[in-house]
Amino acid sequence: PDAISVSNLAKIIGVASFEQKLQNLGIEYVSHDHLLNAEEASLIAMEYNLNPVVNSEAAIDLFSKPKPVDMSKYPLRSPVVAILGHVDHGKTTLLDTLRKSSVAAGEAGGITQHIGAFSVTLPSERTITFLDTPGHAAFSAMRARGAHVTDIVVLVVAADDGIMPQTLEAIKHAKDAGVPMIVAINKIDRHNANSQKVRESLLANGVELEEYGGETQSVEISGLTGQGLDQLEEAIITLAELSDLRAEVDIEAEGAVIESQMEKGKGYVATILVKRGTLKQGDIIVAGTTWCKVRMMTNEKSQIIKNALPSTPVKVIGWKELPVAGDEVFQATDEELAKIVVANRKLKSSREQQLKDLEVINEKRRQRK
Ligand code: GTP
Ligand code: MG
Repeated sequence: PDAISVSNLAKIIGVASFEQKLQNLGIEYVSHDHLLNAEEASLIAMEYNLNPVVNSEAAIDLFSKPKPVDMSKYPLRSPVVAILGHVDHGKTTLLDTLRKSSVAAGEAGGITQHIGAFSVTLPSERTITFLDTPGHAAFSAMRARGAHVTDIVVLVVAADDGIMPQTLEAIKHAKDAGVPMIVAINKIDRHNANSQKVRESLLANGVELEEYGGETQSVEISGLTGQGLDQLEEAIITLAELSDLRAEVDIEAEGAVIESQMEKGKGYVATILVKRGTLKQGDIIVAGTTWCKVRMMTNEKSQIIKNALPSTPVKVIGWKELPVAGDEVFQATDEELAKIVVANRKLKSSREQQLKDLEVINEKRRQRK
């Protein structure tokens, strides 16, 4: 039910109390946490020349469905791996090399397009989904939501540069989110590479490597030459198997926005990582305060696909407005529901903004006194 406490209403109006107005309404001697119903609160607000808006539809929204307790009967899904590390330590180069070799293994010359997330299929038929997270605002938003999009973090450390501030920050993010980490000691082709020093400083910074009896795997690689990438993929697969990653495929789709942009002739385009369920062409989905009837979906090879299973990144066309990277994606049963949810979310955020504005105004009033 719509209700507000006496003290909260006073705060919104910007007065210390409104005892007299309460008495006028026939409400006497109530405590500050007494709840006023919508009608009472509106009458008091109007006494202060305010225009109250009561909204009882605000509860209609889309949420993540509860996860089944026993996941064992659901199909396995590919691990989603985020690449983290200090500036210039070679994250993008590593991803480029991984992507190229995957194209070579698949069909020749297909790829030209860069997207923020892509899947690599190994000779063993296993697939790994990589997120080009560095530099993406998307990732910090996801981390804030508990990093549930990412299963594994690959920490890239350049062997000629060692542990740097963003390396430490990345370690902290992985730990805070409870996401297991693999260390990729990169640029080992360089003459001044010192991987032993990297290991020692990792240990000094709380990363317990296998070599020292800990649980964190480390792999020596060169993103440039491709050396060690097989071992890196193997380390990822090993860790993924331990985690037994599974997802429901027959439920309504849930996912996250990885990146979004305006594209000529296509309109608003967003890369969505499907986390649960299957996203299908024609589905209605909501992200933040925008929605989309999925007009077209393409994979990282720019091929049109009709269905996207969990752990699959897809480009989705058909958005009404530009979705925000990091926002969660939920499927709606129909357009009407999507519209109501979006309208409610917009209303809610504009109300929150109004409350913030009021705080500022009240603060100024107080200072003037
Ligand atoms: P930011 O996105 O700015 O954080 O950088 P990044 O981590 O993506 O680094 P990037 O891949 O752009 O590489 C930075 C520089 O290091 C480039 O000049 C690369 O060619 C070089 N580099 C990357 N990996 C290797 C490697 O394995 N060996 C050598 N020798 N150079 C590398
Ligand atoms: Mg980069």
